[in-house]
This record gives sequence, structure tokens and C-alpha cells, in this order.
Amino acid sequence: MTTTIAKKGMNLTVKNIQAFYGESKAVKGVSIDFPANKITALIGPSGCGKSTLVRCLNRMHEEGSSASVRGKVLLNEENIYGADVDPVSVRRTIGMVFQKPNPFPTMSILDNVLAGPRLSGDRAHATRKHAEQALRDVGLWAEVKHKLNRPAADLSGGQQQRLCIARAIALEPEVLLMDEPCSALDPISTQRIEELVLRLKKRFTIVMVTHNLQQAQRVADRTAFMLDGELIEVAATSNLFNKPKDSRTKKYVTGQFG
Ligand SMILES: Nc1ncnc2c1ncn2[C@@H]1O[C@H](COP(=O)(O)OP(=O)(O)O)[C@@H](O)[C@H]1O
Ligand SMILES: [Mg+2]
Repeated sequence: MTTTIAKKGMNLTVKNIQAFYGESKAVKGVSIDFPANKITALIGPSGCGKSTLVRCLNRMHEEGSSASVRGKVLLNEENIYGADVDPVSVRRTIGMVFQKPNPFPTMSILDNVLAGPRLSGDRAHATRKHAEQALRDVGLWAEVKHKLNRPAADLSGGQQQRLCIARAIALEPEVLLMDEPCSALDPISTQRIEELVLRLKKRFTIVMVTHNLQQAQRVADRTAFMLDGELIEVAATSNLFNKPKDSRTKKYVTGQFG
């Protein structure tokens, strides 16, 4: 796969993040590093706080009505929660892909990819050439080049998810957050997304939530295990699965609960 874009990706350092829904604390003081150009998988049982933590990484969590955040997230040393930082610019630099593919369904395939740069006034990237490159990067170009003006809803679920990834990378972010990006997809589409994520790590820092332990082992360089709002353990993926340090990690990765 060719790309015209130089290697990018920045370290993301999380320092004692606490996330609340009203009085209830869903993330209880997590500190973790997400190294540049690596894939870090976040695993743990349903409700342990994976999605909440990920949404703290690009200031999405605070959009909820009673939601609040404490702590720091440093993108190459700069705190994204700094007083003078615009949350919209943070979300441009730290992109996100969701569980359920969420293209703008009635908008054309091409306009979906151009939506990010257009909405953020990024004229340099709001070009057809750039959109074509993003579609090539996600392996969708051959499938859609003859129907760029068809609505996105015409695509299959797996294609829609790749379109959403194209939309996210068209903004040239540094970090890509993915919250269970394959859980609504069939096995073939899942495999394509996994191959895509492995290619994209050359350009981005990737944080991927997954409930699929095999998927974490196939794609992630590092894996972090969360339980009840806390980070229990983070390690190189093979170490976390084969030589876990914490007995709770061991129980989870050997299928004794979850
Ligand atoms: N919008 C919300 N309002 C209140 N509580 C929430 C909300 N979203 C999630 N929670 C709670 O926060 C905790 C963590 O949820 P979540 O981050 O979605 O976990 P996971 O992604 O690991 O399944 C759970 O107890 C969940 O019930
Ligand atoms: Mg979740």
C-alpha cells in the first residue's frame, strides 16, 4: 500500500485520569503510556471503563451532560486538558472510530471522507486527491471509485467502517482511537480492519479497545488490562497473555471470568 504521507504518530501519556458520571467514578486514576507507532489494546470485562477512558483521550467524555474528568493527558508533552487548549482541535489531532460504523448515511462516499477537513476549515486536505488517497489507504478505493457519489448507506458494514477510518485519517491525526471497531463486523471484514490497523501504525499511534482476546494477540504490540475502573496491568502483548504479573489478569486472559 502506497502512502504519500511521512511517518507520524506521537506519544500519548496519561497521568492519573479520573472520569466521572455525576458522582460515580468510572475511571479511578489511570496512568499509562501509549507509545508512538505502536498499537495498544485495551481489554477488560464489560463495564470496566474502557470506552470511558478512551473518550477521555480526546476530550469526548466531557461532552456528556454530567460527565467530568480530572488528570492529565499529554500529547508529546502538551496537556490536552490545558486551560488554553481547544477541545475541537484536540479531536482533530486525536481521531476516533466507533463500534458501530457511523458514516453520514445520506451523504456521498466522497463527501464523507471530505467532511472532516471541510468542517474544520482545512482546505489543504479537503481535496478529491486527498480523499482518494485516504480511500486507498484503507483499501476501499477499488471498491468505491466507480460510485463515489452514491450515499454511504449503500456500502456494507465492513466497507462503512473502512470509510469511517478514511474519514478519520483524512484529517491527518497523530493518534487514532478505536473503540471495538470490529464488534459489529463479520469475520472477513474484521480481518481486513486488522490488516489495515497494522498498516496504519506506521503513521499513527493506535489505541484499540477490543473484547476479543485473540484480536489483541493478533494486532497489539502492547495490551492493557482494566478492571472496575482501574488499570491492573500493561505489558508487551505476549507477556500479558503468557506471563501475567497480576492474578486477576491471569484469571481474565485464561477465561475464568469476563
Ligand atoms: N453515559 C453514562 N452515564 C452513566 N454511567 C455510565 C455512562 N456510560 C458508562 N457508564 C458507566 O461507567 C462504567 C464504565 O462504562 P464503559 O466505559 O462503557 O465500560 P466498557 O467500555 O469497559 O464496557 C460502567 O459502570 C457504566 O455503567
Ligand atoms: Mg465500551
